[in-house]
Amino acid sequence: MIHTEMDQDILKVLITEEELRECVKKLGEQISRDYQGKNLLMVSVLKGSVVFMSDLMRSITIPALIDFMSVSSYGSGVKTSGVVKIIKDLDQQLEGKDLLIVEDILDSGMTLSYLSQLLRARNPRSIRIATLLDKPERRTADIQADYYGFRVPDAFVVGYGLDYSEKYRNLPYIGVLKPEVYSK
Ligand code: IMP
Ligand code: MG
Repeated sequence: MIHTEMDQDILKVLITEEELRECVKKLGEQISRDYQGKNLLMVSVLKGSVVFMSDLMRSITIPALIDFMSVSSYGSGVKTSGVVKIIKDLDQQLEGKDLLIVEDILDSGMTLSYLSQLLRARNPRSIRIATLLDKPERRTADIQADYYGFRVPDAFVVGYGLDYSEKYRNLPYIGVLKPEVYSK
């Protein structure tokens, strides 16, 4: 499918729709095996992870609950502010649950480091992290993903849920944004 207006702002396609589909299916199979007999609660961190979440949950073949949480870390720019604030909290209680935090991208790790600390205090049975993308070069917090889809280089990427200034989330692939778009 052509998304001409948005495609013009993309320097190059990093991960195609086909590659995303295959990878998410494999992750789902792995998570289904690992969480067999457990109390899986998938928590999607809004809004970047919604596309990943909706594909991942459908590739999971065991019973799973879902919930959503919204935190702010980046504002509308490309650099982390270091400030993480809860905009929307979970509806579910966490006690006895095997929590799987679903994220779009693990960058500096500050958001997830804060979130997992906060959620751990609510006594879930376990906490793991599934991120679609991992940018290990940019990590400043001491945190790793238990499941990741792709390692990506230190470039600003958009699509498949990821945004720049709330735009490009609906692109079906992951692409590197042209630097002139955010230096304007
Ligand atoms: P962290 O706290 O630095 O790990 O940042 C995590 C959040 O920053 C992600 O959930 C994204 O919303 C955003 N982010 C980091 N890198 C990118 C990127 O390359 N493209 C779009 N959003 C990004
Ligand atoms: Mg974002």
